[in-house]
Amino acid sequence: MSPSVTKKTVQEVFSGISGKYDALLNAVTLGKIEPWQRELLQMLSQEGNRLDVGTGTGEVLLKSQNRGLRVGIDLSLDMLKVAKNKCGACKFLVADAESMPFRAEVFSSLTLSLVFRHLIDRKSFLKEARRVLKEGGELALLDINRFSLTPLLVFMMRFPLRPLGRLLFGEDRWSFFIHSLENALKIQQVKEELQEEGFEVVVVQKRLFGLVYLLLARKG
Ligand SMILES: C[S@@+](CC[C@H](N)C(=O)[O-])C[C@H]1O[C@@H](n2cnc3c(N)ncnc32)[C@H](O)[C@@H]1O
Repeated sequence: MSPSVTKKTVQEVFSGISGKYDALLNAVTLGKIEPWQRELLQMLSQEGNRLDVGTGTGEVLLKSQNRGLRVGIDLSLDMLKVAKNKCGACKFLVADAESMPFRAEVFSSLTLSLVFRHLIDRKSFLKEARRVLKEGGELALLDINRFSLTPLLVFMMRFPLRPLGRLLFGEDRWSFFIHSLENALKIQQVKEELQEEGFEVVVVQKRLFGLVYLLLARKG
């Protein structure tokens, strides 16, 4: 964990790109984000209330066909404004994944698309996820896998590229980029963190030559 990354920085980074976010994500994933998010949702078997954590512009909830409530939380109000324009039937609120404003056992499923590696304290999030999920509830993750060049890229960003990064993006944002890259975990580590917090990992699938993973876990 990089100590200089704060939630304020995370919120500022995403608020700053909220208007262009969908187009950017579509471009960097070569249009694959749509089918990956649909596949993430297809992994879920629970029908009831669904919470999309770090919902951003709300694309996962928009695609979600569950019959219960569709709720999205995010740190960035600007991202949520875009989401609300797309899905009037969904409920969106500014809230922190690591300390959620919900009663225990209210959701049947939680989804996180491209969020897990941005979290500053994953352990706190997993405790919260376990708390708000019903018994047997499902947690589905879509994220970037750690690949062989990740440590080298992190080193380059931390040292030789740092002055340039600071100049172009500012110290806080550059630290956030490093944090997000460094916290792209190996699937095995993700599994271990989930198991430590009482989740049973049920399915793992890889996409794009293993660069992206989809994972389904169940509250034990
Ligand atoms: C890369 S975007 C993903 C957005 C969306 N899920 C998607 O798939 O396009 C990451 C989102 O997670 C949000 N986020 C990061 N940390 C968070 C936290 N602790 N609590 C709530 N939202 C968070 C950011 O504000 C941002 O909107």
